[in-house]
Amino acid sequence: MNSMRLNQMGAAFLIAAVALGGSWAAGSLLVPHRAAAQSAVPMPQSTPDDGQDPPIETLLAHADAAKGHEIADHQCGMCHSFAPHGPSVIGPDLFGVMGTHIGDIPDYEFSDALSAHKKDVWTPALLSEWIKKPDAFAPGTKMAFPGIASATDRANVVAFIQTLVEEKN
Ligand code: HEC
Repeated sequence: MNSMRLNQMGAAFLIAAVALGGSWAAGSLLVPHRAAAQSAVPMPQSTPDDGQDPPIETLLAHADAAKGHEIADHQCGMCHSFAPHGPSVIGPDLFGVMGTHIGDIPDYEFSDALSAHKKDVWTPALLSEWIKKPDAFAPGTKMAFPGIASATDRANVVAFIQTLVEEKN
């Protein structure tokens, strides 16, 4: 390749660069306010189920145990009893379950998946996480329940389960 050809290529390159720069400049002159207008558009609100749930304590402060009772009757009652010393149905009786060790009711045969959590006790936070998506909490659990997506509904159910304790006389 001779030097003449190199010069031609260099010139062509320069022209292309100038043309490109020029059109970029012209473009930005034509739409000077576009960026400013866009930043004024409000960001979409995050939905409750994107992993950004408010802390369970906050939710429980506004929770409604009576609503939770209704939800539990509809969504849990076919598999769980809520009565003191109630029977195991498909799942174990849930009276007094809050604060007990996970998967630790003597008369009930838990899956290995849930028994793996035995060292932990049921707190409102764990219970909410469990009923959000049982199979994510304990992959392979035999609780065939898809979960409750609404953090508010879960808090209501947790508030209801918190009421299932022996009356102190
Ligand atoms: C289709 C039946 C079914 C439904 C519906 C169901 N469960 Fe269960 N649940 C089970 C079974 C089965 C287990 C035992 C899971 C295991 O051993 O893996 C269980 C276990 C549990 C436990 C653990 C108890 C312990 O002592 O550790 C809790 C708490 C619980 N369920 C709460 C609920 C709540 C609250 C709902 C409703 C929102 C619900 N379940 C809906 C069948 C069900």
